[in-house]
Amino acid sequence: MKLWGGRFEKATEGLVEEFHSSIRFDQRLYQQDIAGSIAHARMLGSIEVLDAQETTAIIAGLEEILGDIQRGVVEFDVSAEDIHMNVEKLLTERIGEAGKKLHTARSRNDQVALDLRLFLRGEIDQIKDLLQVWIDTLLNLAAEHTETWMPGYTHLQRAQPVTLSHHLLAYVQMFLRDLDRLKDARKRLNVSPLGSGALAATTFPLRREMVAAELAFDGITRNSLDGVSDRDFALDFLAAGSILMMHLSRLCEELVLWSSGEFAFVEMDDGYATGSSIMPQKKNPDVAELVRGKTGRVYGALLGLLTTMKGLPLAYNKDMQEDKEPVFDTVDTVKKSLLVMAPLLRTMRVRKEEMYRAARGGFTNATDLADYLAAKGVPFREAHEIVGRLVLHCTKRQIGLEELSLAEYREISVVFAEDLYQAISIEQCVRRRDIPGGPGPDAVRQAIMQSREELRGLVW
Ligand code: ARG
Repeated sequence: MKLWGGRFEKATEGLVEEFHSSIRFDQRLYQQDIAGSIAHARMLGSIEVLDAQETTAIIAGLEEILGDIQRGVVEFDVSAEDIHMNVEKLLTERIGEAGKKLHTARSRNDQVALDLRLFLRGEIDQIKDLLQVWIDTLLNLAAEHTETWMPGYTHLQRAQPVTLSHHLLAYVQMFLRDLDRLKDARKRLNVSPLGSGALAATTFPLRREMVAAELAFDGITRNSLDGVSDRDFALDFLAAGSILMMHLSRLCEELVLWSSGEFAFVEMDDGYATGSSIMPQKKNPDVAELVRGKTGRVYGALLGLLTTMKGLPLAYNKDMQEDKEPVFDTVDTVKKSLLVMAPLLRTMRVRKEEMYRAARGGFTNATDLADYLAAKGVPFREAHEIVGRLVLHCTKRQIGLEELSLAEYREISVVFAEDLYQAISIEQCVRRRDIPGGPGPDAVRQAIMQSREELRGLVW
């Protein structure tokens, strides 16, 4: 017999039972569901909707069920639909009549909203810890490479020299913003919807704030219709997760490129790469590829839930049962990705010489040569033109700007003097870019310190 069976004359079709049941996946919320029920029961006791005996029996029963689920001895029942009714059914089986009173002044609609908020809050806290480790990993590697010269790119064409440290710090900025976004999402989700009932609250004088405080919420939702039908908090999380994955994916794309023979900037540790079943020479950066690939499923989760929500009239609709799987999948994907990326980066071999060689080729010092002329009074547009002609000349001879003789330089402009070679050395090109936010080693060391401080300020 269904918990809601009173007004039905026929049993649910087997096909429908299987189709609409969510216990297969929402059993993941058992802990949150039981914590919510305990808080609800305690509050019902405090307003004497439950007597002391009933309250004690319900709480003890729920704690026992929690223990049994954790020990893996509970079999869930598909015909009890979801985690909420499974727990209630188990409770009534175990403690009898009192169990049937637990659902007073509550609906599965406010219950599921509560469970998902509690779940996401816990997961965001864990992702925060993982992000902290990940950002630390980036910062530690950055600290080692403030003078590891490498080309910076635009259009994937070598542009101006930077350092590996500076490049990594760009990612640090992205992940600090991700942390901030998650913190913000957590703040908005941390209100209790219990008391919203099915949609129109309840006639019982519930102490909503008491339940909220017991469950460590900062407050309560302010409208019962919104309380049961809002999934913004899940979308906030999926959006933050999508952006975070986009950042990981961009880095992974670079690591894949850098692992190629053509770049040869890095080599993955054997523990973080895989081989080919046919080509004996292969060492593939699969882990980075897979993180890049998994970004797609996280975007899918966000787009999926946005689409589920877009046409829903107030308040609860069963469509919203579709919110859980994308949230669970995103939680798992983000956590696993962060977990694997930290040691991958820590163990990766950085091939400084290759990076330096690439930085010296490709005329990454051409801007500095134009700046050299401009500093000596040549209008920049003219300086640009002169250096452009020099680059064309060197390209034809397959040499670098530093290989032209002073005599050759002076044929083109008498402004050139011996100090030009100093101005276009790769090290100098980077060292002199020493303003805040720049790649100069001193500026970068400063930026590392600031980022560490920012990280400390962001975690909770
Ligand atoms: N399993 C449902 C869900 O995940 C719980 C809420 C069901 N409410 C209802 N009125 N059918 O959304």
